[in-house]
Amino acid sequence: MSKQLPPGSFGLPIVGETLSFLNDPAFADKRQEKYGPIFKTHLLGHPTVVMVGPEANRFILSSHMHHFSWEDSMPDTIKELFGRSLLFQDGEEHQRNRRVLKPAFHGKALEGYLETMERITQSYLTKWEAMGTFTWLGEMKQLTFEIASLLLLGSEPGAKTVRLCQWFSEILAGRFTIPLRFRWAPYGRALQARDRLLAHIEGVVRDRQQHPNQDALGLLVQSRDEEGNSLSMEEIKVQALLMLFAGYETTSSMLTSLVMSLAQNPTVWKQAQNEQDVLAVEGPLNLEQLRGMPYLEQVLKEVERLYPPVAGGFRGVIESFEFNGYQVPKGWRVFYTIGTTHKDPRCYSDIKQFDPDRFSPERAEHKKYDFSLVGFGGGPRTCLGQAFAKMEMKIVVAHLLRNYTWELLPDQDLTMKLMPTLHPRSGLKVQFRKRSGGDKQGS
Ligand code: HEM
Repeated sequence: MSKQLPPGSFGLPIVGETLSFLNDPAFADKRQEKYGPIFKTHLLGHPTVVMVGPEANRFILSSHMHHFSWEDSMPDTIKELFGRSLLFQDGEEHQRNRRVLKPAFHGKALEGYLETMERITQSYLTKWEAMGTFTWLGEMKQLTFEIASLLLLGSEPGAKTVRLCQWFSEILAGRFTIPLRFRWAPYGRALQARDRLLAHIEGVVRDRQQHPNQDALGLLVQSRDEEGNSLSMEEIKVQALLMLFAGYETTSSMLTSLVMSLAQNPTVWKQAQNEQDVLAVEGPLNLEQLRGMPYLEQVLKEVERLYPPVAGGFRGVIESFEFNGYQVPKGWRVFYTIGTTHKDPRCYSDIKQFDPDRFSPERAEHKKYDFSLVGFGGGPRTCLGQAFAKMEMKIVVAHLLRNYTWELLPDQDLTMKLMPTLHPRSGLKVQFRKRSGGDKQGS
């Protein structure tokens, strides 16, 4: 190849620019301003090229995805902890597994999860009302874990779920640590916790094999693709663990940003509340009602745009390529950006403004450029749990809007921290209470 490498800096020896990348949510924004939409850096031990904007996203996520590998993009610790699951597979193996996993997270299957999601949500609303003041991020994590635990681990809320959550937290705590396998080391403890969690899942899978069930794990046991392929016991175990991992910090991050954004934007909050008050009927929600909340969907998109839980995605470069006049060598990594693309003024007007109406059918700013709204990734490997997560978030927020109100407590740090997923540094401290009848439209 004759072209030159992209501009940029490799930073310090060994660590490169990893610390700024992990600690500064504006890492890519700042370098894009300085170098333009493609620049080189050194992250997590690898020379890396960051590519910004919808064209770059289309290139990496869709049109040239065969130049890239997911397996080569992850630290070895994460690969070992989460086994041979979808996130670390490429090519045929990935396609086959994705086809078999998909039915458990789409269409008809989701209908079966609604009751569980709503039941757990109700229990948390009652708990929050009794607590009055609390920090929402931790609560959202517990809520998300309990829903996932019921659907993916077959465990009802209670002492057992608390234990499963402890094991899961140990796995998360070990994922970016030095890989010392001793029992006292965080990584050794994470491996031990993973084995316990996998043994638990195996027990539930055996039960589901004998007594078929419609929860996500039950559906994974029964799932077949068009050619009749199914998942082995080992595959079901690691894929279930991956789903727990992929959905836990992401969904709780977005829910926290959502309730924060509503409190900071009273006009948006009022409009979202009015939509719910008009729709509100007694009794449980159903899929048809969830589909009929266009304004809440716009709000969700605006939270996805301004507060995407994940900053972007790494890929290993398995075939050298040229982009925008620069060469990127085989063996390097690329990083496609989510948050920085979402602030591209070519795609979005008034980029800092929280404005759900930009997604109204009349304005539809995200349709000007393909791959300009990528909070759930894009292309053939877009987030498998997107519909699941959106349904869960809609259920939680619809109930919050209908029956509750909250205020952000003063003197807290609401600047955003990127790791492990985007969240306000304070965790979002709120005062929470039931809405009085007089607050509601038409009453
Ligand atoms: C608000 C919640 C969520 C967000 C923002 C989110 C975001 C993402 C993103 C950005 C990707 C693509 C990463 C990349 O291109 O490198 C992804 C992939 C994935 N997500 Fe999600 N996710 C969410 C919830 C979930 C849930 C609940 C599940 C499981 C039930 C899930 C399962 C997956 C899986 C399996 C993949 C990999 C798909 C593949 O490689 O084929 N996600 N997610």
